[in-house]
Amino acid sequence: MAGTAPSGTSSENIGHVVFITAAAAIGGFLFGYDSAVINGAVTGIQKHFAVGPVQIGFVVAIALLGSALGAWIAGGLADRWGRTRTMQVAAILFAISSVGQALPFAVWDLAFWRVLAGVGIGMASVIGPAYIAEVSPPAYRGRLGSFQQLAIVLGIAVSQLVNYAIAETAGGNVNNKLAGLEAWQWMLGACLVPALLYLLFSTIIPESPRFLVAAGKTQEARRVLAEVEGESSDVDARLAEIQDSLRSERRPRLRDLRGPKFGLLPIVWIGILLSVFQQFVGINVIFYYSASLWQSIGINQSNSLLISFSTSIINIVGTFIAIALVDRIGRRPLLLIGSAGMAVALAVAAWAFSSGVPSGDTVRLPEAQGFVALVAAHVFVLFFALSWGVVVWVLLGEMFPNRVRAAALSVAASAQWVANWLITVSFPSLAAWSLAGAYVGYTFFAVLSFVFVWFKVRETKGRKLEEMG
Ligand code: GLC
Repeated sequence: MAGTAPSGTSSENIGHVVFITAAAAIGGFLFGYDSAVINGAVTGIQKHFAVGPVQIGFVVAIALLGSALGAWIAGGLADRWGRTRTMQVAAILFAISSVGQALPFAVWDLAFWRVLAGVGIGMASVIGPAYIAEVSPPAYRGRLGSFQQLAIVLGIAVSQLVNYAIAETAGGNVNNKLAGLEAWQWMLGACLVPALLYLLFSTIIPESPRFLVAAGKTQEARRVLAEVEGESSDVDARLAEIQDSLRSERRPRLRDLRGPKFGLLPIVWIGILLSVFQQFVGINVIFYYSASLWQSIGINQSNSLLISFSTSIINIVGTFIAIALVDRIGRRPLLLIGSAGMAVALAVAAWAFSSGVPSGDTVRLPEAQGFVALVAAHVFVLFFALSWGVVVWVLLGEMFPNRVRAAALSVAASAQWVANWLITVSFPSLAAWSLAGAYVGYTFFAVLSFVFVWFKVRETKGRKLEEMG
């Protein structure tokens, strides 16, 4: 079954494919940027509209449901209109919503624009991996697919830097005005810049050859294939393979995902579970709540912001490690190493948190345990980043058969956004009940994720997309 790399891929082609991939991954950058930017703006919004923590929690979490919707519809749009057209729609949503978010007249108006931004994020989360997998030569697909996650983590880190820079310019108070708008409004509006870049680049890059074949545009598909895989590789044979794998009378629909196991094809279940485990280990507790997490164990505000930044740097470092390894040692070993490392780090964090003594709103940890919790959180992020962060997005892009890829990816990514939402809305109450308890839960899911990968996930390294199924 295992296919080999096409020998015709030249370094010139690879340079071109890297450019195309990077352009498509701007969607990932916006995904990271737009979902994390809210952290820096939250206190400003709260003050500006005089709203409480419950309403603000609603504004933060509602965007994730928008993302679930965006991911759900992206597959259908990608199969109907094409991959690049879908990127353009997402880019327009990002652009409009960044202006809307910067100029809200009420908190519900802001929530509306957050949902719209969320729809863009969800669409970008589906279209990026699908497109990148479809234009990548098999031998490089893992590394190129990792660009999506690299872009996401860069987006998260850059949003924090931009927030910090804007807050500093405003004299450290996000409600201070800069050129007529409050600092938090600039934070949310700054997203317009990458959104316009995304729109520009998505009109330059070629349409996916797999979509072109499905749309009957064989000559164009041939041209793009030669462009990305090299003239010397056997383009006609590749074309025939794609045509073969797509052979069906009509466009794929969600109902093509139906199967004998609990109503869905087994491979779709695997995609859904990969998504759910990626979220249930609690990664976004670190990225959405880091400041309040660290403050809840008695670390002061400015140090907690510093810690948030250091975890996002570790996240980038881990992503580079994954990029170096994903096509060498493969997807499965990385996932297993990641699950094991995360389980240990999460268990250690749970132990450290369990030594907390309540004091007012916060929990005081003995100094040694506080330090252990910090180290454990960084180790957890490192193991996540070098494994599940990258590999899940790579796998979701490549593991489904051509005929159902976009639809299956949509379903799996929507499940991921719903899982993200569940963790995001439940964390504050879980933490209020018991921080250690929350971390025991995340540890449990890390252990379960190991068992799941061990028994259910197949290696896809080096195989052609046409061999997936
Ligand atoms: C992955 C997850 C996303 C998370 C990010 C952190 O992309 O899907 O939810 O925020 O990793 O690096």
